Amino acid sequence: MKYRMLLLYAALVAGLGAFAPRAPAADPLVIRFSHVVAPDTPKGKAAEFFRARAEALTGGRVQVEIHPNSSLYRDREEMEALQLGAVQMLAPSLAKFSVLGVTEFEVFDLPYIFDDEAALAKVTRGPIGKRLLASLESRGIKGLAFWDNGFKSFSANTPIRTPEDLHGKRMRIQASKVLEEQMLALGAIPHMMAFSEVYQALRIGVVDGTENPHSNLYTQRMHEVQKHLTITDHGYLGYAVITNARFWDALPWSIRRQLEQALEEASVYANRIAREENARAIEAVRAAGTTEIHELDADGRRAFKRALIPVHRSMAARIGPELIQAIYRETGFDPDRF
Ligand code: LMR
Repeated sequence: MKYRMLLLYAALVAGLGAFAPRAPAADPLVIRFSHVVAPDTPKGKAAEFFRARAEALTGGRVQVEIHPNSSLYRDREEMEALQLGAVQMLAPSLAKFSVLGVTEFEVFDLPYIFDDEAALAKVTRGPIGKRLLASLESRGIKGLAFWDNGFKSFSANTPIRTPEDLHGKRMRIQASKVLEEQMLALGAIPHMMAFSEVYQALRIGVVDGTENPHSNLYTQRMHEVQKHLTITDHGYLGYAVITNARFWDALPWSIRRQLEQALEEASVYANRIAREENARAIEAVRAAGTTEIHELDADGRRAFKRALIPVHRSMAARIGPELIQAIYRETGFDPDRF
């Protein structure tokens, strides 16, 4: 309720001006970029990089305000805020687009669908990625770029060495039906919850565990309230950078071009740092000494794959079987090899 009030207030204050970027020369055009993670994460750093480049390339005609850590809006509210024009840019995780009625983005949540970053890049930087971004236009949203975070691990308060270890565990998930199905396939109990609430929910025991790339786990201090973490790499987490289409289309051509360039550079940067940021984060978790880190051997990895690959089939109707097949063709993924 509080967030909705804040949202409406911000929309009123931003008002119609949000859609009318014809500011006098002395008045910089302000872009509010809201996100839910810490500044010291792949997304947080890429947003900062974008801010610096956008301001430099436009010679200060554009000013980018970054609002990290859900300080303005939580997951769902930020989508509404973008559509209302209360903020101009977001980079929600790909798991969170179904609130717009676009379920295809949940294809990125299918367990193990990308063997590595190279397979992922074939999709996000190729025609499939372009088509997915373009599909947002019907929602008044312009998809600008994909930014990586990385592959997810499971964490909990008891060791997770086999899929059976997650049986009966209450696991926090993002708002994605595919992730819900993934947890059900493991016999776990999925709990959808905004990112900003996860630390507290883990701390007081509303949920037993969760999944995220290590950079998110560490910067939200989840390791302080999770005794075990298993490096599973069972799923991908990345972002689509999006803007309000009316706002973007109304920008003077030269500014739009400069912002596109800033974004291109920020995307290269984001996708370059993601892996090293996550590697640093897992070492920081290790150094903190609060969480035992488990690695799976080949048999262990196979057991998780066997338990989770059936989700591809059970979620095909929701995502679109053609899209899933197109990704298999692009990446060479063969679900029958497990
Ligand atoms: C989550 O909600 O778990 C994360 O995806 C948040 C984010 O934006 O990385």
